[in-house]
Amino acid sequence: HGAYDFVVVANRLPVDRATDEEGNAAWRRSPGGLVSALAPVMAVHDGAWVGWHGAADETLEPFDHDVFHLVPVPLSAEEVERYYEGFSNATIWPLYHDVIAPPEFHRTWWDTYREINRRFAEAAASNATQGGTVWIQDYQLQLVPAMLRHLRPDLTIGFFDHIPFPPVEIFAQLPWRRQILTGLLGADLLGFQRPGDAANFRRCCDRMLGIQFDGERAEVTQTPDDDVAEDTRNERLRRAYTRSMPNVTSRRSARQKRLDKALPTWISRASSYPISIDFEGVAQMASRPETKRRARQIREELGNPETVYLGVDRLDYTKGIRHRLKAYGELLNDGDLTVESSAMIQVASPSRERVESYIQLREQIEGMVGRLNGQFDTMSHTAIRYLHHGYPFEEMVALYLATDVMVVSSLRDGMNLVAKEFVTSHLDNSGVLVLSEFTGAAEQLPDAILINPHDIDGFKEALLYAKEMPDLEMRQRMHRMREQIFSHDVEDWSTRFLDDLARTREDKLGPE
Ligand code: G6P
Repeated sequence: HGAYDFVVVANRLPVDRATDEEGNAAWRRSPGGLVSALAPVMAVHDGAWVGWHGAADETLEPFDHDVFHLVPVPLSAEEVERYYEGFSNATIWPLYHDVIAPPEFHRTWWDTYREINRRFAEAAASNATQGGTVWIQDYQLQLVPAMLRHLRPDLTIGFFDHIPFPPVEIFAQLPWRRQILTGLLGADLLGFQRPGDAANFRRCCDRMLGIQFDGERAEVTQTPDDDVAEDTRNERLRRAYTRSMPNVTSRRSARQKRLDKALPTWISRASSYPISIDFEGVAQMASRPETKRRARQIREELGNPETVYLGVDRLDYTKGIRHRLKAYGELLNDGDLTVESSAMIQVASPSRERVESYIQLREQIEGMVGRLNGQFDTMSHTAIRYLHHGYPFEEMVALYLATDVMVVSSLRDGMNLVAKEFVTSHLDNSGVLVLSEFTGAAEQLPDAILINPHDIDGFKEALLYAKEMPDLEMRQRMHRMREQIFSHDVEDWSTRFLDDLARTREDKLGPE
């Protein structure tokens, strides 16, 4: 066995390759909450991170970068197409986000998803010490828990789902629904964003596998074969497979119990752990004089409008960017807003650019922006500032500070950390957050102006109320939201999850 007592497994490594002026490639720590949350944990435990380095057809040896021991998992160009762009982002992603885009089901994608999940499980298995802890992240790796448990029953296994878990009626569409659930149930602890996501998962296990949870816990029996992806097309095999599915021991027949006898059982727990941000890091960046100066400069560059509206998203159909442009465009058309009095900035960072529904979305959004700007721009003012690129963290925080009204209009979103970053950066409790009720963040930030982005009239009213909101109300709402994020930051998230995971292990082995 390997050398690390704590191993994180995620589709992506926590580093990006940047090229300097001389054309030399160097690794840089990736931005984002997950990476900054896990860095201290990795440092304390001397842990390893298993993940893809982001390039196709390139095999890299393990290497170290700041506090991380990195174990790169190679993917061929065809595997990127079938596992990453295909099954992960054109099957699971739309299915788990309320089928906003139609999910595609292809058996070749599924086969590759299984193979790649096995590759990640093997990499984790060969890097973890005896009795170590492995924490698997997100929807790209849902089969890894059961595969890893089969390879290494000594390990304690956690899984966190960063995106929504769908209701059973939608999940039922997936041809490989049972295999996915069986894969996930290999974990000792399953974490979800909202209590409702965990409840959806438990209901799916009941309906699809006959596994009933007692509260948050269920007893699971291992399948005799670790191949959670058995071919269900063959009827004889299918029946054998059905018999061997994990089940609640108490509900199984005596005969089945005899069959199960030799098979290991364990308790799997499914609960919610809403993710958050590095409160201190964002607040500190916002308090720097350079950041404040840059924020003032941005407002000047915009021509000092009365109201600055801002949207910041990956260019993704789950984010409701078209609904936002529609509502804002109607307000300009109605004369309730003018290009002189208000500015709308939409940062849309490029994402998954070879997936068809993302190509289509980009065309639609750029068409809308072009039409709105063509209709409303003047020589000196523009209706929508559309920026199709990412920005460094410093510039993002300056942009938040320059903003009066942050607009988050996702049609479905696991959490939405942009909302939390905006609130955190306004140290003086100024600013208004307009937030879709279909985000995980809405359950934690009831002091935002909550909207249904499909209700365009309600959306427009919220945008107008946001710019007129009385100062006292604005500061009270922001204060309560900042308190919430301060007391539930990302360190609190990882500590809660890892403490509960350690507890599942004590239940098994007794305290160390
Ligand atoms: C979401 C997912 C992450 C993913 C990120 C960026 O936040 O939950 O797992 O890493 O989007 O998407 P990408 O496909 O570029 O990794």
